[in-house]
Amino acid sequence: MAIENVDANDLILFDNTYVERISLRCSLLQQHREDVIGVTDISNTQIQTSIKELYNYLFAYYLPTRYPSIFHTYQDEKRTAITKNLITNQTFPAAADKSIPIQSALETICQNIDEDFFILLPDDPHNPEETTYTLKSYSACFPSGFKPIDKLGKKLADIHGPVPGYKAKLQKSMDRFFAKLQPGRFVKRVNWGITVDEELYSNFDKSGPAFEGKLKAMTLEELDLDKAFLRCERQTLHRLPASGAIVFAFHTYLYPIQDIRNEGLGEDLACAIEGLQRGSTPEMFTYKNGEKWADAVKEFLRI
Ligand code: HEM
Repeated sequence: MAIENVDANDLILFDNTYVERISLRCSLLQQHREDVIGVTDISNTQIQTSIKELYNYLFAYYLPTRYPSIFHTYQDEKRTAITKNLITNQTFPAAADKSIPIQSALETICQNIDEDFFILLPDDPHNPEETTYTLKSYSACFPSGFKPIDKLGKKLADIHGPVPGYKAKLQKSMDRFFAKLQPGRFVKRVNWGITVDEELYSNFDKSGPAFEGKLKAMTLEELDLDKAFLRCERQTLHRLPASGAIVFAFHTYLYPIQDIRNEGLGEDLACAIEGLQRGSTPEMFTYKNGEKWADAVKEFLRI
């Protein structure tokens, strides 16, 4: 599964793209709210509890403690704990009490953290160490070629339906890992792909047309360097202690392939692309749309 432990201090990272990304998140939320925020059942108390637990962990505890120069908590005149985002000047309750609808809680998460969040709950809450997990809610602005709304209400294995080799190589160990993950442990993994014509908001089925053989290989001349990126997600997982929910979150990084070549890493990336083609699961190359971009990108990286 290629995961490693991560220190709680590094669960959420901020970088110099924050202001631009948060502004993009706010406009995506306005334009595509029904896609960006998802909840299977807003009246379900277990789901409400898990969203509020994540909200409280982030805004009453984690962010003001870890990033006091960005998030400041204080009490207002009614003695309500408020968190202020010192960069955007937005203020909101530090804890999500009963008066805050869970969709608003997800919106506040979306508007303040450059990270996409997916909350999964155990299918048998009385037996969290044996059961499977289902996606119950999310806040996601930067999906990389899948539709989060189509994943809502699905079990982990079904979410990964289009992922080559998942059933044979990953499903068992993932289900076991999820069941056993203890609160207080934080893990991460990193994925990567190449995009040549996509937005950060890639809310569409990317692998479907590839598996149907509908992709046409682009030429070097057709490669638009302003749109060609190595796209990586730094993904983290942890369990919320009270609700037993598992939080899957990722931060998306875009590295222009022009920069990669300029920094002398062109050959390394070209070899990684070839590794994808020849690796133990070559269908992964198709899943990641390799037929479209691989030849042109490798040629560019090796000039
Ligand atoms: C240890 C944890 C996990 C592992 C090892 C894993 C593995 C993978 C792999 C190998 C892929 C193919 C793309 C890539 O290279 O990343 C993938 C895609 C994906 N994963 Fe995971 N995953 C994990 C956790 C999760 C969780 C908790 C969710 C919950 C929402 C999730 C949602 C997805 C989605 C939506 C896709 C895209 C599927 C599509 O193309 O339709 N993953 N995952």
